Amino acid sequence: MTNEVVIEAWNTVLFDKFTRFKYLFVEGYAAISEQVFERHPPPVGSKILDVGCGFGDCTVRIAKLIGDKGIASGVDCASNFIQQCNLLAEQEALNNTKFFVADIEVDDLSGPYDQAFARFGTMFFNMPSLAMKNIRLSLKPGGKFTQVVWRKREANPWLHDAEMCVRNIVPVVSHDETDAVHCGPGPFSMAGPDMVSDMLKAVGFERIQFERFDSEICIGRNLDEAIQFALEIGPAGEIIRLAGEEGQRLKGQVEKGLADVIAKFERNDGTIWAPSSAWFITAFNPS
Ligand SMILES: C[S@@+](CC[C@H](N)C(=O)[O-])C[C@H]1O[C@@H](n2cnc3c(N)ncnc32)[C@H](O)[C@@H]1O
Repeated sequence: MTNEVVIEAWNTVLFDKFTRFKYLFVEGYAAISEQVFERHPPPVGSKILDVGCGFGDCTVRIAKLIGDKGIASGVDCASNFIQQCNLLAEQEALNNTKFFVADIEVDDLSGPYDQAFARFGTMFFNMPSLAMKNIRLSLKPGGKFTQVVWRKREANPWLHDAEMCVRNIVPVVSHDETDAVHCGPGPFSMAGPDMVSDMLKAVGFERIQFERFDSEICIGRNLDEAIQFALEIGPAGEIIRLAGEEGQRLKGQVEKGLADVIAKFERNDGTIWAPSSAWFITAFNPS
């Protein structure tokens, strides 16, 4: 099995969608990763790998935290994201970042690193245990891997309720039934601590810990924007896209359904904030 389909998806349709809603991701996810860095500060002067770095904003934040004597490297399988990362590093005039294109599951990750970090990246890896093993092998002995993943669906209604709404209206086409490119396993694939800790242990990590983090996340500056966000991003967006013409035909009906679902998250100022829940997972390469 190769990752061609997933890599193509992240370089094309998913890159376009994430770019459209970049401001929501960059601000919303940064609020969560700041909490991670407060609890697990990247050591000054260290060498850190940001796994599945997307737009690179987190890598840049790490670069600032570790200072000039450290190096923050961002890796992503999609060259379009890496281009954006390089532009960002240039804008920020940073000389302690590196960005490169690689498939985290099979390619050399140019270690050894003191630490690896992944914010909402590992849930999309097609063969996560290969990825986890490769990440561990890229770490120095005793190196720490910190990852942020979504907890269970029900604790993340901004994704789950939207998905349920779309499922009631649009016929679901599985990845096996379509030639369309897709994102890989999906946002809740790392939500189960037993499964994830077994996987980390099986590939050689030790001292595995899970910390729950709940917060409200902004999913739109108004109701319309939140509906478009739900229509495009996450499982709801994937169901519509994979359903092809039928998905497009039913879009109006879906929009009405989503408005009912999302209206309950509206604040007095019209912005939309939904509860979210993540795991901060830490694990160590044996010394
Ligand atoms: C949801 S995005 C998260 C991006 C970023 N970490 C953030 O927090 O904004 C997941 C990222 O993982 C990358 N990705 C998926 N599979 C990958 C693989 N096998 N190797 C490297 N990167 C991968 C995607 O291209 C995408 O940029």
